[in-house]
Amino acid sequence: MSNRTFTMIKPDAFRNGHSGAILDRIIKEGFNIKALKMVKLSAEKAGEFYAVHKERPFYGELVAFMSSGPIIAAILEKENAVESFRTLIGATNPAQAAEGTIRKMFATSVGENAVHGSDSNENAAIEGAFFFAGLEQF
Ligand code: RTP
Ligand code: MG
Repeated sequence: MSNRTFTMIKPDAFRNGHSGAILDRIIKEGFNIKALKMVKLSAEKAGEFYAVHKERPFYGELVAFMSSGPIIAAILEKENAVESFRTLIGATNPAQAAEGTIRKMFATSVGENAVHGSDSNENAAIEGAFFFAGLEQF
């Protein structure tokens, strides 16, 4: 699983019509899509996904935002996928994201930052399994 990562196109980017451009960029950067779906998270499911941040001051806002509209979830494959994808999306705060990164191009704020990317191989596997059954992964 070490060549896989998990991503979401978050509700802000979806709402603003950036899903196609973001998926196109991801594919052009050499990631292969191994699973893909559009879903709307309930507040409960969003809270479960980001449970690691439960004690942080922004948790309530994060859960409300992530359940505010549809998202696109995907499992991506590429050599060194987790690190390579984090480089492609840029810093959490788009104001600090490098030029040309997905967050620099499409995010509006630190809270509404267009995309999610797994932060470790272990979390990539956990997060992929959160959204996709075995039959939905290729
Ligand atoms: P993500 O998990 O979504 O890929 O983002 P990340 O690793 O770059 O950042 P992380 O520290 O895991 O934070 C998760 C998400 O919480 C929101 N956040 N808001 N208002 C704030 O100060 C703040 N800090 C984080 C962002 O949506 C961030 O992506
Ligand atoms: Mg994170």
